[in-house]
Amino acid sequence: MEENSTKKVILSGIQPSGILTIGHLAGALKNWVALQDSFSCLYMIANMHAITVRQNAADLRRRTLETAALFLAAGVDPEKSVLFIQSQVPEHAQLTWVLNTFAGYGELGKMTQFKDKSAKNAENINCGLFTYPVLMASDILLYQADAVPVGEDQKQHLELTRNLAQRFNYYYSDTFKIPEPYIPKIGSRIMSLQDPTSKMSKSDENQNSLIYLNDSNEEIINKIKRAVTDSNAEVRFDEANKPGVSNLMTLYHLATGISFEDIEKEFAGHGYGDFKLSVGKAVADWIAPLRERYNEIIKDKKRLESILIYGAEEAHKIARKTLDKVYKKVGFVRF
Ligand code: TYM
Repeated sequence: MEENSTKKVILSGIQPSGILTIGHLAGALKNWVALQDSFSCLYMIANMHAITVRQNAADLRRRTLETAALFLAAGVDPEKSVLFIQSQVPEHAQLTWVLNTFAGYGELGKMTQFKDKSAKNAENINCGLFTYPVLMASDILLYQADAVPVGEDQKQHLELTRNLAQRFNYYYSDTFKIPEPYIPKIGSRIMSLQDPTSKMSKSDENQNSLIYLNDSNEEIINKIKRAVTDSNAEVRFDEANKPGVSNLMTLYHLATGISFEDIEKEFAGHGYGDFKLSVGKAVADWIAPLRERYNEIIKDKKRLESILIYGAEEAHKIARKTLDKVYKKVGFVRF
């Protein structure tokens, strides 16, 4: 990343807690790639966030590299963007401590993701899960990010980030840039193929509900064939009444660029069988090149590591500047 660049700054991250899904591609990765040419972008593997749910250490190490490889396979270009692992930049944890003192117990308890994850992990509702959004705020504020490309589910965390930044700025004078969420109009909430009223989530146990970015063409086509729709055979975009069909139309649009109106025309008078087959093939064609690139990239661990080491150094330089300011403002002595 160019020093003193006047380009606006973008930061975003994904947890390496499993193979990424088409939801991550639609809600985040696709936009990350599109933003690279016009902005100074930093993209992070949020491994510190991932340990708020128990992880097997060997799996987490492996998935961290796999996630980095998927970023590259999706088109993140290390010549243009800074790609790094969160835990390799210690300022994330350091700023989190300071911002924790600005976050209210009540407001963190209201976070939807905290409530959902607590319900799913009743045996391990740890404090990390609770302060998770403060770590996320630190990720963003350390880099003075102007915008944060995420899916719909992260919107509440972005609002909290803005509130924490404003509170700190008000108390100690201007320190942090107030970031804007960047949420795509189409694809910000890809739904489960088996229950189209809930988000496609990698923690879903039903494998038929998700499309992984390394699924084969056959798996993709079969999963879409089995997707839950409705009983009135009409291809029409109507999220409230036809969530399954609308979700498939969204995937078809993302894969081909065809507008909803034209999709409706294309399948007028056809049954869902034809529609699902076309969606399946289009999505498979979209994912296949990514999967092939991924299979190549993951073989070269040395290259991946050197990209990530360089990325952490670059990220650290920027993060350090912000943390130094913060430490000075809060009154931490420096000799
Ligand atoms: P995570 O890892 O759950 O998801 C990563 C990104 O993918 C988006 N996403 C989806 N978009 C559309 N449809 C879906 N079904 C879908 N599933 C996931 C998410 O909205 C997200 O943009 N806390 C974050 C990671 C994070 C972060 C950050 C993001 C850590 N620090 C700083 C931005 C900035 C998370 O758990 O995302």
